[in-house]
Amino acid sequence: MSIDGKTELYGIIGNPVRHSLSPAMHNAGFATMGMNWVYVPMEVTDIEQGITGLRALGFRGVSITVPHKETVIPFLDEIDPVAEKIGAVNTLVFQKGRDGRVILRGLNTDWLGANTALAERVNLQQSRVLIIGAGGSAKAVGFGLVQAGAEVIISNRTAETGKALADWLGCSFIPLEEVADVSADVLINTTSVGMEPDNEGIVVPPSLLSGFSVVMDIVYAPLETRLLREAKAAGCQTIDGLSMLLYQGAAQFKIWTGGRPPQLIMRSALEEELRRRTIV
Ligand code: ATR
Repeated sequence: MSIDGKTELYGIIGNPVRHSLSPAMHNAGFATMGMNWVYVPMEVTDIEQGITGLRALGFRGVSITVPHKETVIPFLDEIDPVAEKIGAVNTLVFQKGRDGRVILRGLNTDWLGANTALAERVNLQQSRVLIIGAGGSAKAVGFGLVQAGAEVIISNRTAETGKALADWLGCSFIPLEEVADVSADVLINTTSVGMEPDNEGIVVPPSLLSGFSVVMDIVYAPLETRLLREAKAAGCQTIDGLSMLLYQGAAQFKIWTGGRPPQLIMRSALEEELRRRTIV
C-alpha cells in the first residue's frame, strides 16, 4: 500500500479500539480492489470532538464501535431508518452535498452480520433461533433474524434485561436456568462467555447442544470457543465469531465503495491477523 496526497481516509472509532480486527479486514479489501484508500483505528473519548475532527480531516467513511454506537446519533445529519429503529449506528458516511457542505449519514450493518452467516446454512423463515444474551449484540442479531422471518427466543442471565429485549423484538423470553426446556434449530451465543482468558467458559450445558442443528458464537478469540468445540462434537454445524464480523464489514465495504466486497480476501485477512496476535 502506498499512501500519498490522494489517499482517501477511512477508519474506526471506539474506546478501546486497539484490539480491533477491522483495519486488517478493510485494508485487505481496499488493496485487493486497487483503491488508494486507508482504514485506521482511532481511540476517541469525546464523540462530539471526534466527529468534528473527522469532518475537519476529510474522512469519507468510519465504523463506530463501543461505546459510541448510540451516543453518535445526535451528531448525524441523517440516519438510516433501520439504524434509527435499532437505536445504534456502526457505519458513518461523509458525503459532499451540492453546496459543498459535508452531510454525515449513519447506518447500521451489525444486524446483517448474523443474518448473512446463518442464511448460508438454514432457511431463516422456517427456523427457531435461541439467542443467549440481551446486550447490544443480541439486539442487532435479534432484529435481523426477526426481519428475516425467524422465530426468535431470548434467554439471558438477568431476566429483566432479557424480557425488555424480548418485548422490543416481539418475541418470547426464557430464563437462562430454563434453556433445557427450549427446542430450537439454532443457538447463538451473544455474551462474552468463552472469550479469552475464559477459554473453558460455556454459556449452556454441553449436554444440550445435540438438540440444535447450528450453533453460532459471536466470540472470535479463541476462534474455536469451547461452545463451538462441544457443538462440533455433538454433530452440529458451527459458525464462528469472525463470520458476523466479516459480514457486517462486507456490508460497510459495499456502502462505502458501491462495489462487491472481496469477502474471501477479507476473511483471510481476519484469520491471519488473529493468528499473528496469538503468535506474538
Ligand atoms: P454487547 O454490547 O457486546 O452485547 P453487553 O451489552 O455488555 O455487550 O451485553 C453482554 C451480555 O452478555 C448480557 O446479556 C449479559 O447478561 P446480563 O444482562 O445478565 O449482564 C451477558 N453476560 C455477560 N457475562 C455473562 C455470564 N458470565 N453469564 C451469562 N451471561 C453473561
